[in-house]
Amino acid sequence: MSNNPVGVKEAIEQRRAARAFREDPIPEETLREIFRLGLRAPSGFNLQPWRFVVVRDADNKAKLRQCAFDQRQVTEAPVVLICCGDRRVKESDYIESVIELGKQLDAVNDRYADYMRSMIPQLFAGGPSFGSLEVWTNRHTMLAVAHLAIAAKSLGVDSCPMEGFVTDQVKAAFQIPEEVDVCCLLPLGYAAEPYKAYGGRFDIEQVFYGESFGDRFQLSLTPR
Ligand SMILES: Cc1cc2nc3c(=O)[nH]c(=O)nc-3n(C[C@H](O)[C@H](O)[C@H](O)COP(=O)(O)O)c2cc1C
Repeated sequence: MSNNPVGVKEAIEQRRAARAFREDPIPEETLREIFRLGLRAPSGFNLQPWRFVVVRDADNKAKLRQCAFDQRQVTEAPVVLICCGDRRVKESDYIESVIELGKQLDAVNDRYADYMRSMIPQLFAGGPSFGSLEVWTNRHTMLAVAHLAIAAKSLGVDSCPMEGFVTDQVKAAFQIPEEVDVCCLLPLGYAAEPYKAYGGRFDIEQVFYGESFGDRFQLSLTPR
């Protein structure tokens, strides 16, 4: 795995889930850039429900590893993000802060602000596209996690998304409020041996369907 900066196509192709990390720290400016780019992820009504606990202290990483089935990445990586989704973003004060942010950039006018004030509570009252609020927070936070992982790789930094942890233990150990969901852990750093062999991906035709679920889909271009 290379640690040189690369473009987005190479970052996607080269990103791997790193199971072991070297001790080398991530420079602060690199970390800032990864975080800045990660936060460009899209979200419904721009509500940005993702929240991240940045764990760098050795004792805290050891504590987190105990909540994560003793997975070595958690203590080896110089930085581990506890990636959370905050269900409280449906509260009116928070909605006002999103409106204000958009107004400062001339992206939200008074009419659209009123639309947001009426539609966002309706979205959460009905939840037409999600079964539970946890589904909603996960949907958004994991998009940000994907952005973070690709941004990190483009800056030469490896990562490992992790669902191998006990939610209640992580919440208790890191003072995560009841209304906040832990969506995944994301160790960040520079990968070391051993690398896991690339497990491959299914072909486009196996996972893309045409018009109706299960129907054959084929692109007319010849694969390169
Ligand atoms: C949501 C999610 C949870 C994962 N949890 C773990 C984990 O707990 N431990 C681990 O070592 N890898 C974990 N992985 C990494 C996957 O095993 C890995 O992405 C997959 O095998 C494909 O390998 P690649 O990412 O290197 O291409 C997780 C990946 C995702 C997306």
